[in-house]
Amino acid sequence: MNIRAATADDGEPAALVLRRSIAELCGRDHENDPALLASWLANKTAEHFRDWVRAEDTLCLVAEGDDGAILGVGLMSRSGEIRLNYVSPDARFQGVSSALIRAFERGAAQLGVARLTLNSTATAHRFYLARGFRDEGQPQTGRLRENIYPMAKVLSQTEA
Ligand SMILES: CC(C)(COP(=O)(O)OP(=O)(O)OC[C@H]1O[C@@H](n2cnc3c(N)ncnc32)[C@H](O)[C@@H]1OP(=O)(O)O)[C@@H](O)C(=O)NCCC(=O)NCCS
Repeated sequence: MNIRAATADDGEPAALVLRRSIAELCGRDHENDPALLASWLANKTAEHFRDWVRAEDTLCLVAEGDDGAILGVGLMSRSGEIRLNYVSPDARFQGVSSALIRAFERGAAQLGVARLTLNSTATAHRFYLARGFRDEGQPQTGRLRENIYPMAKVLSQTEA
């Protein structure tokens, strides 16, 4: 597996990974509620992905398998907010999300950013805790809304 900068050509397969990851892996968050799922997926399109790739204030990364398939998609603002971190259901628990987070930690260090922030799903909350993120403030959870666990991680010199 290789982590690389995303390109506009990744639009279709990357959007498919985002959509499948949310629909198939985040059931604990959307509970198969059609309206919630539809609103969550609304901007997970190839067109939006290409906009994220072109934006100057974000780093957009993909994890690529040996066969060239996109296994994961990540997006971080240059101020250290991780906005997307989604693994393909075909590659779950094979280190893809961990590799994306490590890449963002390296990217943040290069940008002089010492603290990463994100809004976790319930699905990924345990994953982020195990990777050194801590809860910041009250989670916003409940039926018919996307779960949001605000989290942050101060990067150590080692990670930088
Ligand atoms: C949970 C998730 C983020 C883990 O990412 P991954 O690429 O599949 O897994 P990795 O191999 O990188 O990391 C494995 C870690 O996931 C966590 N994990 C393992 N089993 C898990 C489970 N059943 N549920 C939740 N987390 C689990 C553990 O922390 C594990 O670390 P460990 O092996 O050191 O104990 C991913 O599987 C997932 O469900 N993603 C859905 C999309 C999402 O919610 N993204 C976050 C948006 S903020």
